[in-house]
Formats: sequence, C-alpha cells, structure tokens
Amino acid sequence: MAIISSKKQPHEPSGGQPKQHRESAKASLKENILQPEAATDEQGKQEESIRPQRFADYIGQKDLKDVLDIAIKAAKSRGEVLDHLLLYGPPGLGKTTMAMILAAEMGVNYKITSAPALERPRDIVGLLVNLQPGDVLFIDEIHRLSRMTEEILYPAMEDYRLDISIGKGSSARTRSIPLSKFTLVGATTRVGALTSPLRDRFGLVQKLRFYEVEELSQIVLRSAQLLNTTITEDGAKEIAKRARGTPRVANRLLKRVRDYAEVKSFAKICATVAAEALHLFQVDPCGLDWTDRRMLTVIIEQFNGGPVGLETIAAATGEDTQTIEEVYEPYLMQIGYLSRTPRGRVATAAAYKHMGFQPPNEQLSLL
Ligand SMILES: Nc1ncnc2c1ncn2[C@@H]1O[C@H](COP(=O)(O)OP(=O)(O)OP(=O)(O)O)[C@@H](O)[C@H]1O
Ligand SMILES: [Mg+2]
Repeated sequence: MAIISSKKQPHEPSGGQPKQHRESAKASLKENILQPEAATDEQGKQEESIRPQRFADYIGQKDLKDVLDIAIKAAKSRGEVLDHLLLYGPPGLGKTTMAMILAAEMGVNYKITSAPALERPRDIVGLLVNLQPGDVLFIDEIHRLSRMTEEILYPAMEDYRLDISIGKGSSARTRSIPLSKFTLVGATTRVGALTSPLRDRFGLVQKLRFYEVEELSQIVLRSAQLLNTTITEDGAKEIAKRARGTPRVANRLLKRVRDYAEVKSFAKICATVAAEALHLFQVDPCGLDWTDRRMLTVIIEQFNGGPVGLETIAAATGEDTQTIEEVYEPYLMQIGYLSRTPRGRVATAAAYKHMGFQPPNEQLSLL
C-alpha cells in the first residue's frame, strides 16, 4: 500500500533551515536559564502538575481565549467538531498547553505528536485512522512536515478522508478511506515557513503574544502555590519582570529562586530574596542575558546604534542568525530596545539608557 502524493517530489523539510543548523541553535542555548525552549529536565511530572488544565487556569492571552471560547461554544451547541486551529508564537508561551485545554473543554481525547516524528507517510496514516470522533490531534513544529505527510493531511483536514493507492504501475487503483471528524491543532514558532496550502486549511489562525508582567506575576503565584512555596506578591513580580514575557521562563526562575530561598533558610520569597537569587544567576533586572547585552553593546558601540545587518550581529555575538531572529530579537523588540528597519537592526534610546550609554539625541543636545 502506498500513499498517493499528487506531486511526487523528493522529501524536503519545509522549515528551510538545514537540520544541523537548527540543532546548533538549540545546543547554544542549552545551559541558559533564560532560554524560552523547554530544557530536557522540564518534561516530567512536576512540569505537568503546574501546567494549566482548564481555561480558567490559563492566565493572560485574553484575545486568544475569547476567540476560542466562542469557537468551542458554537461547536458544542451545533454538536460539531472544532475547526482546525493553528497556534503560532515564540517558544514557551503556552501553545501545547492551549491544545490540551481545548481537548479538555471539548470533552474529547487528544494525541500529541511533532512534525519530525512524522517523517514517513505511515506515521501520519497510523495516527489519523486511529482517531475517534471529535479527537484533537496536536502537531508541534508543524512547519517541519515533509511534503508527503502534508499532502496526506490536505484531504484529511478538508473532507476527513484518506486517499490511498493500491498496487503499482498500470494496475494501481485509488481508494478513499473515511476518517472520523477530528480537530487538527498545529503549533509553530515560524508561521512564515508554513506552506500556504497548509496554512489555508486552518479555520482559525491565532497568534500568542508575550505576557505582561502582571500576568506573569499571577502565573508565578499560581505555580508557587502548586509547588508549596511561600512567595509574596512583590517576590512574584520581581521574578515576572525578568521572565522575558514567557511563562516557561517565569516557572523556571521561580524554581531557581525557590532553591536559593531553601538553601539560605528564608521562610518566604520576597522581592529582596528573588532579586538576590536572580542576581546570582546573572539574570539582569529586565531579564536580559549576556547575548542580549552583547548584541545591544555591539550595535551601540561599534555601529553608532545601527542600522546593522543580522549577519554582522551574529558574527559579533557568536550566535547563529536563526537563534537571534527567533529567540533574542522578539523579546528585545517587545520591550522596545531594538527596532527592525529595512536596512538592519537599530538600538533604541531605551536600550542606550539600559546599557548605560547616552542616547544619540541627548548627545546632540549637549553640544
Ligand atoms: N497562560 C498560561 N498560564 C499559566 N501557565 C502557562 C501559561 N502558558 C504556559 N504556561 C506554562 O508554561 C509552560 C510552557 O508552556 P507550553 O509547553 O504550552 O509552551 P509552548 O508554546 O508549547 O512552547 P514550545 O514552542 O517550546 O513548544 C507550561 O508548562 C505551563 O506550565
Ligand atoms: Mg509546545
């Protein structure tokens, strides 16, 4: 049995970047406490215990929640399955968590997989034929699907059917197998790398945004409660301010601060204890790490604040361009320290001040 592919082309990951390149991007982040991607020890039971299970526990992302709340209610009242949903945004903002919550709110089961695990056509076929009516199929890193797998998904998403070919050559026949109606939830950090036929088949396309300090404070307070740790509101805020707008980072910083408080025998985590602990871990008050600071310093000192090309920044910091684009820049832009122009990256006046330099406009006014 072979799977029909309308255009038989050699396999080519749609992500664009070679695998080795991506791996090196991950490796360079491995030891970094502020990296938004999950570390290998962050997949255990404790992680699951703090992951929100229902809408009510999912803090922030109000726009996303409003849209999904309506979609869920409408689907339930019509007795239909939820539309296919594409979630995109930087790592650690709650895409996987939201997929699980959707299944819980719809009262259905979910299956989680990721594009690199669907290399062969039979991987996706096996998953699809075993889905029960209404099930949620979650595919992480969906921009990395192989072309064959993607083409199997098209009729599955559109008409809930699987097109297969039986036999070879002139005796080959095509058969369609009906599938249970299901909801595909795709997650990606790189929505631009998705092919447009795939993107167009999602009824809902939603972006996750970075969290406000206030929202992250609530996440820290909630996680602290689940971890049986005493923390003050100020303590939670101190951690939230340094969490780079990312719940995964906030939870990780909380755990490091909790270790510090335990070892130093502090009964509770207040702002001073949190600041002391995070200073020890070299997390600056805005959540910037060595690479962020180096990037800003290079742009300011060596290029008069920019514009500077991405390749130049990469060379000066020793990071690769993909890591800078996906991990460092989004947060620096979010806090208003960096702006992107057609000619390159520019450091803002706020970045000058944070790094202890005089902004260019103020330098002029002193002349
Ligand atoms: N809105 C939220 N409220 C509370 N906690 C959250 C929220 N979003 C995420 N978290 C916490 O952050 C952690 C990371 O979230 P999640 O695994 O869903 O991120 P992701 O977007 O799927 O990341 P990746 O792109 O790396 O797969 C979760 O374990 C969860 O505990
Ligand atoms: Mg995820």
